[in-house]
Amino acid sequence: MKSIETKYMEEREAVLRALARLDRRAFLKVSAGALGAAIAAGAGVTPHSFSLVNVAHAQDKPPEGSPPEGNPGTKAGPSPAKPTLANKPAGFTFAYISDSHLYKRELNDRFVRSLLRAVDDVNAMDPQPDFVLYGGDLAQLGQREELDLGAEILKSLKAPVRMMVGEHDWYLDMGARWRELFGEPNYAFEHKGVQFVVLNSVVEEDFWTPAKLSPMERMQTVAGLDNGKQRPFTVGEEQRAWLQKELASVPKTKPLIVFSHSPLYKLYKQWNFWTDDAEQVQAILKPFQRVTVIHGHTHQILTNRIGNIHFHGMLSTAWPWPYAPQGLPALTIQMNRPDPFNPNDGCGDGEVLVHPDGLVDKLYKLWNRNPVTVSRAYMSSSGKQDSPLAPNSGSY
Ligand SMILES: [Fe+2]
Repeated sequence: MKSIETKYMEEREAVLRALARLDRRAFLKVSAGALGAAIAAGAGVTPHSFSLVNVAHAQDKPPEGSPPEGNPGTKAGPSPAKPTLANKPAGFTFAYISDSHLYKRELNDRFVRSLLRAVDDVNAMDPQPDFVLYGGDLAQLGQREELDLGAEILKSLKAPVRMMVGEHDWYLDMGARWRELFGEPNYAFEHKGVQFVVLNSVVEEDFWTPAKLSPMERMQTVAGLDNGKQRPFTVGEEQRAWLQKELASVPKTKPLIVFSHSPLYKLYKQWNFWTDDAEQVQAILKPFQRVTVIHGHTHQILTNRIGNIHFHGMLSTAWPWPYAPQGLPALTIQMNRPDPFNPNDGCGDGEVLVHPDGLVDKLYKLWNRNPVTVSRAYMSSSGKQDSPLAPNSGSY
C-alpha cells in the first residue's frame, strides 16, 4: 500500500516526464503568440477610470454571530511570503484553483505550468484543506486533450477535489467529455454543518442552430467574451427548479455556500460578467440567513454584497482580466493593473476559511503580490470594519 505522499509524487513525476518529452522550441514559438493575445486581452490594456457603481444593496445590520475579527491577510496576519488561514481558531478551510484555460500541450505549456504551480501551493498547505474547489474553465476550447490534461494534473492534489464547469469546458461537445471525467455539473453536498451547492451557471440559449455553427465555431463564439453573437449565461429554469427542490428541506439557519462559474449577479453584460436569471436565483437563496457565493470567470479580486448574500470572485491561474469598464461593486478591493511584462502577475489561487457560524474569510493568494483577505467582518459590516489593505504594486 503506497502512502498518499508517494502516490502524489509518482503521479506528479509522470506528468512532468510527459511534459519534458515535448518539443520545447515548438512550445515557445506557439505559446509566444498565445501569450501575446492573453496580454493584449488581460494585461496590456489602457487603465480605466474605475468609477464605482453600486451593484450591492447591503443591509444595515450584520447577521448574528459575525463578530469583527482581525484581518489575517493584512494587519494581524502572516507574512506575505506565506499567506495562510491555517492558524484558524475553528471552522474549516477549503482551497480554490480556477480558470486555468489549458490549451493542448503542444500549443502552450505556460498555462500548464501555472496550474502545476497552483497545485503545488495547495499541496503545501499545512494542515491540508478539507477539499479543493476547481472553479471552472479548466480547458480553453473544451477539447478532450485539454480536459484530460487538466484532469491528470488535478489528480496530483492531495485533498479531494470538487469540480465546477465553465463555458470553455462545455461548448465544444456540450459537456460530454467533462461529464465523463467529473460527473454532473450541478450537485449539492453537506460538509461539517454547511450546505454546499455547485451550479452550472453558463447555460446559454441555442444561438448556434439558427446560425448553422459547427461545434468548434460554437465553442469559439462562447469563448470570445465580447463578440456580441452569443446569449447571456443563465442557471436556467430546469436547474433553478432543481435548486429550489434541493434547498427545500435545508433549514434556513444552516449556512449555505454556493459555487457558480459566472457571478450570480449582473455586472457587465458585454463580457458575460453577468448571469441573466440572477434575480431569480438570488430569490431562492435569500431566505437563508448566511449565504456566500464563490464564483470564477472574472479572473480578479471582486467582492459584492446583495442583501444577505456575500459574493467573492476567484483568481485565475492563467491571466487576470481587467475590471469591467463600467465600474466595480462597492466592496471590491481593487487590484492594481497587472504588470504586462510578468505573465503571472494578477494570477494566483486561494483559500476560504469557513467559520463555525458559516460566514467566510476569503483569501486571494496573488502570486507576486501581497495576499488579500476579504474577511467576514468586512462583509458583515458592509466594508465599515476590517478593511483589507489594497494589494501592493511592487512589480511596476
Ligand atoms: Fe469563464
